[in-house]
This record gives sequence, structure tokens and C-alpha cells, in this order.
Amino acid sequence: MINRIDETRKSFDEDLLRVNDHASLEELRIKYLGRKGLVSQLFESLKDVSKEDKRVVGQALNQLKIHTQSRFDEVRDSLKNKDDISESIEDLSLSGRTHTIGSRHILTQTLDEIKNIFKGLGFSVYEGPELESDYNNFEALNFAEDHPARDMQDTFFVTDKFLLRTHTSPVQVRLMTDKKPPLRAIMPGKVFRNEAISAKSYCLFHQVEGLYVDTDVTFAELKGTLVAFAKQFYGQDVKYRFRASFFPFTEPSAEMDVWWQPKGKEGRWLEVLGCGMVDPNVLINVGIDPEKYTGYAFGMGVERTAMLKYGIGDIRILFDNDKRFLTQF
Ligand code: DAH
Repeated sequence: MINRIDETRKSFDEDLLRVNDHASLEELRIKYLGRKGLVSQLFESLKDVSKEDKRVVGQALNQLKIHTQSRFDEVRDSLKNKDDISESIEDLSLSGRTHTIGSRHILTQTLDEIKNIFKGLGFSVYEGPELESDYNNFEALNFAEDHPARDMQDTFFVTDKFLLRTHTSPVQVRLMTDKKPPLRAIMPGKVFRNEAISAKSYCLFHQVEGLYVDTDVTFAELKGTLVAFAKQFYGQDVKYRFRASFFPFTEPSAEMDVWWQPKGKEGRWLEVLGCGMVDPNVLINVGIDPEKYTGYAFGMGVERTAMLKYGIGDIRILFDNDKRFLTQF
């Protein structure tokens, strides 16, 4: 009997060495520890053992039982650990997941670039609201009550007296009303026009207004500033020209054109901004003495400027938020 016990233990230890997965472990359990397994069979045989040997054989059997059960538990636990580890390990053969990182919109980039150039020329940044009074948007800027120039800008009226500003020029009025000269600021922001949407025009766009008011400000300084801007923004060899024009709030007024040369196509002049010397009537409206002070002003469209610089043919694409477009910048 003691021999059978020793042999069972030996064969159990050998079989256990061959266990490498849950299935072979289960086979081993049935063979030795199951209800009809080898260990149970040995316990069955205990009844045939003589009285005097029972104690020794019984002890040996108990030890076998403890040995097989504890070795079995050990191997089962280590198999389970292996499962847990292999579950948590990354599959290194999988292709990576890339994170898409947002970027600044091309209009924001253009606006920042314009701001930086003018900051370098000594301008500060001033902002006004998008909902504006008829007075600031038109009247104070010398648009008479029924001046035809009002029709140049198709206006979204909110009430009789309030509207979505059609240009950033009313911020000039606010700045000159709030602060005393000398004043030198740019005023960026959104403007709104009730126009049919097309490749060239949109109901919403951005402008950057500029204003310099001091004693003895001249048209030559205006030109010098705008040329310095154009050279920094479009490149030192930019081709530009000034044309006489009309705006109710400037006298004299001009427009600046930049030569646009698309590759392989015919080039042409494109208007990039309006400008002029602040009309004395505007200075009077904001309480500045036109005998003492003069000023210049200018206004440019940000979309138009970005389209020209980056060769974009349709303004609507700037508002579509199509990633295929946005990620190019
Ligand atoms: N406000 C004008 C527009 O929206 C642009 C403009 C022209 C602004 C001349 C100015 C200026 O400050 O001097 O068409």
C-alpha cells in the first residue's frame, strides 16, 4: 500500500510537469483528484489495510492528498496569472492610432499675422461690438440720412436704430469718443452684409480697421505705413498701386491694389483695402478739433487678403470647416 502511495505521488509529479494549459490541468485533476480518481481509489483501499498498519498508511494517504491538492492549486494559479498578463499586454503588431491635433484656422492665422505687423508699426488693438447703432455705423461716419452710399452696404437691421455692423469703421467712432489723441490702433472683427452668397461674397466676413489721429498726420504717412505692411505681408517685391476713390468718412480717399499673378494665368490688379484722411466732419462728430488734429484711416478685408495670399478661389470654403481644406495650412 505504501508503495502504491509513493508511485501515485511520483506519477502525479511527472504528469504535473507536462501540464501547460487549462485543458491538460483538468485532465490531471480528473485522473488523480476526481471522485473516481487515483487518490480516492487509494482511500477506498484503506478499508482492506490491517488494523496495525492503518495509522501509518492513513497518514501517508493524507500527506499524498495534501501534496497533490496544493501542487494542483499552485499550477492552476500560475496558469491564471499567465492569462491575466497576456490579456493586458499590448498587441505590438497592431498599427498605431494617430491623434488628430487641431490647428488655428487660416483666417485666425491671417488675422494674427496682420495684427503682428501693425503692432510692430506701433499700433495697439481695439475692439467694438458686432451689434452696432445706426449712428456709429453710418451717421457719425458722415453717411447722410438718405445718402446713396448706405446702399453700398446691404444692412441686416435688427431694429430701426440697431444693426449688425456692416464694417469695422464704427469702432473708429467709439475709439475717438472714448480716448483723446494721439491715437494709433487697429480694430479687427466680424462684419455682416445682407448679400447673395457666392464665390466672391459671404454674409459674414472679417475686417481690420486702422486709425491714426495726431497733430500733422499726412497722406504720405498713410501711404508709407500701408506700403510697409504690404511688403511684410505679401513679400518685399509686391507690386502695388493707389487709386483715388470715395468713402463718406475720408477725404481724400483711395484704394490700394496689389498685383495678383496666379501661376500660368494672366495676372491682374486686386483691390485689397480702402483708405484716406479722416473727414473733418467725422472728427467734429466725435468732439475732436479738426483745426488741431488730422488723421488717416484704412480698412481691409481679412478673407480677401487670405485668399490673395494663399491662392484661394472661393470665399465659402473658409466657412465650410472641411478638414481636407483646413489641414493644408
Ligand atoms: N469701411 C469700408 C468698407 O467696409 C472700408 C474702409 C475704407 C475703411 C476707407 C476705412 C477707410 O477706414 O478709410 O468698405
